[in-house]
Amino acid sequence: MRKKIAAGNWKMNTTFETGKKLVGEILDGLAANPPKQSPNEMLVVLGVPFITLKKAANILKNNPQVKIAAQNCYSEEKGAFTGEISVEMIKSTGAEFVIIGHSERREYFNESFEMLAKKVDLTLKHGLTPIFCCGEKLETREAGQHFDLVKNQIAGSLFHLNDDELSKVVIAYEPVWAIGTGVTASPAQAQEMHAFIRNTIAGKYGKALADEITILYGGSVGAKNAKELFSQSDVDGGLVGGASLKAEDFVTIINSFN
Ligand code: PGA
Repeated sequence: MRKKIAAGNWKMNTTFETGKKLVGEILDGLAANPPKQSPNEMLVVLGVPFITLKKAANILKNNPQVKIAAQNCYSEEKGAFTGEISVEMIKSTGAEFVIIGHSERREYFNESFEMLAKKVDLTLKHGLTPIFCCGEKLETREAGQHFDLVKNQIAGSLFHLNDDELSKVVIAYEPVWAIGTGVTASPAQAQEMHAFIRNTIAGKYGKALADEITILYGGSVGAKNAKELFSQSDVDGGLVGGASLKAEDFVTIINSFN
């Protein structure tokens, strides 16, 4: 049975102090409203800023259900890349996931399919789990090319992986028009694309492997719409931006799995 995940993407929000406080508030919220799924069935992942990784991982060291993610990594192992953060550095903090290819990085930092493939490779090489983001802009959907684009994003950065490697990747479908806009994809739109992604993977790696891949939906997920989105058969959870910064909302989202 594939794992469900409720992931938060804090983006460039919180300081060291407010980040530490938010981790505490989320843990308090979960203690008051414990998820009914076991850690084998469902994980909570907090995508925190780099400066918060180690503190958050320390706080969560003995927590089997809540894990830490970096929001990015660099595409080279080490060396003269001033200001960049390597996967090995991320691993040394205790983080276990890395968000790769978020649309904001593709758009503002020109991250190419090839660069993202290298980031995925390094993440897997060091034993961390990539959360690989894909998703179309509004004009692409309006032109009817959203399936082709998402297929190209996935094939272009993931299809060089072997079966074992691909089986470790988490995919997040995040339509760009739904991110931070308050406009969520309808549950039917999310389900349609998630099923397409799963079929695309099945076409290359076989159905059994595709059925084990966790596919998250992202884009204006909130306390009010999470339940309906998460109840779709191919939606295995969410990657949540704005609402993950409010502990109460995020805990409600975590508790939105059936
Ligand atoms: P949002 O962001 O929930 O604020 O729309 C989602 C994301 O960008 O991961």
